[in-house]
Amino acid sequence: MKKLVVYSSLTGNTKKIGEAIAQQLECEAVSFDSEVAKNLAEYDFVAVGFYVDKGGPDAHFKRYLKENLSNKKVGLFITLGAEPDGEHGEKMLENGREILRANGNEILREFICQGAIDPKLIEQMIEMAQNMGDKAPHPITPERIARWEAAKSHPDENDVANAKKAFAGI
Ligand SMILES: Cc1cc2nc3c(=O)[nH]c(=O)nc-3n(C[C@H](O)[C@H](O)[C@H](O)COP(=O)(O)O)c2cc1C
Repeated sequence: MKKLVVYSSLTGNTKKIGEAIAQQLECEAVSFDSEVAKNLAEYDFVAVGFYVDKGGPDAHFKRYLKENLSNKKVGLFITLGAEPDGEHGEKMLENGREILRANGNEILREFICQGAIDPKLIEQMIEMAQNMGDKAPHPITPERIARWEAAKSHPDENDVANAKKAFAGI
């Protein structure tokens, strides 16, 4: 059975999880914009992973999936800044499932975990909140700061181990 891991990762969190899954599957992990990811026809199982960008996979990765991945056995993995077991996490999983199933793919495995948020993005959100006051899309609440702090250490060793576990037996 030929397997591949394809990921969309900006700052390395999703890549790290993708590489752990690839280790488990004993296959290669590549970014979706690499040459290898262009021809998926020869693979029997493809694990696809994305970081959440404003409520879903970023537009380039979404397009890549639509154009390149259909009628396959697949796995789905996600990293995001919010709590993975909260409402947002569940929504992101549902979002990923819908995209994959719309192309006739069958999802065999899933994994989601938190990932450190790019400090540049945090700076921008703080700046925006200072400029926009009550109208800011991401008001700086103690809960938000706590979430940023919690995300900082992820993906950690536990996440890596759980990702491997989630993809065992393929
Ligand atoms: C532009 C941008 C938008 C983001 N939007 C969200 C979001 O809507 N929800 C969320 O939970 N996390 C969001 N995040 C956080 C990332 O999904 C999270 O930090 C992820 O682990 C980054 O993965 P990467 O290192 O593979 O790029 C966003 C990050 C960036 C850079």
